[in-house]
Amino acid sequence: MGWIRSETVLLLTTTNACYYCYALSPIIDVIMACVGEVCQKSVFIIPHYRDASEKIGLKDKVCLVTGSTSGIGKATALGLARLGATVIVVARDESRGQETLEYINKESNGPPGHLFIADLSEIDSIKNLCKEFKNRFERLDVLINNAGVVTQHGKNTTDGIDTLFAVNYIAPFLLTNLLLDLLKSSAPSRIINVSSSAHGYGNIDFNDVQSRKKGAWRAYGDSKLALLLFSYELAKRLEGTGVTVNALHPGVISTNLISGRESSLSRGFLRAISSPFLRSPQKGAEPSVYLASSPEVEGITGKYFDKLRERKSSERSYDEEAGKKLWQVGADLTAMK
Ligand SMILES: NC(=O)c1ccc[n+]([C@@H]2O[C@H](COP(=O)([O-])OP(=O)(O)OC[C@H]3O[C@@H](n4cnc5c(N)ncnc54)[C@H](OP(=O)(O)O)[C@@H]3O)[C@@H](O)[C@H]2O)c1
Repeated sequence: MGWIRSETVLLLTTTNACYYCYALSPIIDVIMACVGEVCQKSVFIIPHYRDASEKIGLKDKVCLVTGSTSGIGKATALGLARLGATVIVVARDESRGQETLEYINKESNGPPGHLFIADLSEIDSIKNLCKEFKNRFERLDVLINNAGVVTQHGKNTTDGIDTLFAVNYIAPFLLTNLLLDLLKSSAPSRIINVSSSAHGYGNIDFNDVQSRKKGAWRAYGDSKLALLLFSYELAKRLEGTGVTVNALHPGVISTNLISGRESSLSRGFLRAISSPFLRSPQKGAEPSVYLASSPEVEGITGKYFDKLRERKSSERSYDEEAGKKLWQVGADLTAMK
């Protein structure tokens, strides 16, 4: 009942009207998803994506997807492999990683994928991942920072960072920075950050930048806002390099994110009652695959996509000063110059 409890406490305690708005946004999202579903099947087809897989090839492209052992990331990795990409699966658990790799290789008919083991909540593990990757690969065409958590807020990593902040913000910050030289030498290349519409209720307090004083869902919103601020700051820093960076909201998707990986009666119940309203991981992967592969977004950088549509993100996400400050937080915590 952890999810229900924290969500209820959050709803009861918050006084921020803006937050209520965004708390309701998944419901609105689900309604819009259903309407969109009907429209796509009838008149208002999204033409650029529907036949994307027939037109776009990722042959000879190397694509690294974090959080590819489940949910949206797994579907993204398969989608990219089906377009001919060499997919790099990053997993924290060896057996889940192997299982994912076998699934992708079997289902895609693409080039064989590769598995790297890394716990993205640990700085040294991310550094080792990058070192090992550079030893084995000479290029990187697409980096998808997809891994994310909600429920691990309040626990410290061995680096003394809140786990939610570490996985959702520090990991993409460090991984991207450590792989930038390869992305630049492989240009044109693309970075895709999987944020969330939950960034809309994010409100970073630099006196509590890891949102330790907040509940899990507010901390999650803050971390997704942090990822957007990072994306926009990075896009500016990468101008003229041929490396683009965009962020996205995948929709409200049926994954382990909310209902959890472990099975229990309450989680099973939660899954059962929510699943008719949620979109499939395949649908959730479409924006990432689109941004990774479509010629339509070639050269497009520093943008936010709500599913397949470019949209404006929250006002706070365009705060350049906050973006710079947050960059420094990432650099200090990971001891980067
Ligand atoms: N589902 C939604 O409705 C929704 C909406 C908006 C945004 N998103 C975003 O979409 C992204 C993917 O989430 P999802 O819904 O697909 O959730 P998910 O099924 O729970 O997948 C999360 C992935 O991240 C991995 N991960 C978590 N902690 C990690 C760590 N310390 N080291 C390495 N990998 C780690 C998980 O690995 P394990 O397999 O080992 O657990 C899993 O592969 C997240 O960034 C999430 O915030 C999701």
